[in-house]
Amino acid sequence: MPNAKIIGSGGYLPPRVVTNDALAADLATRQIETSDAWITERTGIRQRHIADPGVTTSQLATHAARQALADAGIEADALDLIIVATSTPDFIFPSTACLVQAQLGNKGAAAFDVQAVCSGFVYALATADSFIRAGRATTALVIGAEVFSGILDWNDRSTCVLFGDGAGAVVLQASDEPGILEAQLNADGSQMKILHAAGNVVHGKVTGDPFLRMDGQAVFKLAVTSLAESAKTVCARAGVSLQDIDWMVPHQANVRIINFLGRKLGMPEEKVVVTVDQHANTSAASVPLAFDAARRDGRIKSGDLVLMQGVGGGFTWGSVLARI
Ligand code: ACO
Repeated sequence: MPNAKIIGSGGYLPPRVVTNDALAADLATRQIETSDAWITERTGIRQRHIADPGVTTSQLATHAARQALADAGIEADALDLIIVATSTPDFIFPSTACLVQAQLGNKGAAAFDVQAVCSGFVYALATADSFIRAGRATTALVIGAEVFSGILDWNDRSTCVLFGDGAGAVVLQASDEPGILEAQLNADGSQMKILHAAGNVVHGKVTGDPFLRMDGQAVFKLAVTSLAESAKTVCARAGVSLQDIDWMVPHQANVRIINFLGRKLGMPEEKVVVTVDQHANTSAASVPLAFDAARRDGRIKSGDLVLMQGVGGGFTWGSVLARI
């Protein structure tokens, strides 16, 4: 049975940077009060990248994909599987993965979206790993991409300060060398109320509430406990200890969640990749963006053991343990 090895990664952030001060000034024009101090202290976020109106998830995804393909040294026509994790697809259908496929100029690869909100990338990576292990694909492009700015209620200060837009991607290939060692995915749909965007278009009309709504404290508690449990389980299944992990790449929602989780697992701070200060929460894009940033600056190296973790709406969570 082949292993699935990560052979390249890429990331893309829209060029417009909105600092906390700029966001606070913008919200103040609508009598909504917030501040850099509040946002930084409660979340660790200092800025976010926001896509200009009209820029779509598939466009961000394609930029990240091109970088990952170049990093892997392969052409788009070598891909036989494309998975995009997103909760902000361009359309109801076709899938964002099909749009990316067309933009890359690939024909014939299987292409589909995975919807698991902020856990989406980890879900998509585990799915691609299963395809490769089963012999149903040899070279897979896995992308997490979002334009969350489009589903935020910009009058709700408790949520609109938390998110940003972006895309991250990896290329996975069948290999005799160790690659993805273990993956574990979970969901608890009974918790949907704590984090959702419960709107849709039916009979040509928007139904429900299309904006993201969240019970922040409930999300905080569930995120920390579920991720800690998932990290222990995935390591036990792979026969490695938490101390063997070189890098932890958790979902970038909030630096307090990340620090709390790191402490709970006894993970030294210097082994935890943090980008939430620069990117804010980019949902399904957050893990591949953080992974790519740490690979490009030389922290994550070939041979390292990396734990990637996602958690988000659904409620969903999961872990992937990979030898790079
Ligand atoms: N600026 C200023 N004040 C604010 C803001 C803001 N942007 N947002 C809320 N407040 C106010 C509230 O109105 C409240 O005021 P009050 O005391 O007068 O009623 C006060 O700040 C405290 O509000 P809380 O909601 O209790 O603040 P809390 O300390 O819980 O922090 C936060 C909120 C940051 C969302 C926190 O609950 C958290 O980190 N939750 C985790 C959820 C998360 O990170 N979600 C991201 C998406 S989910 C995911 O990716 C898994």
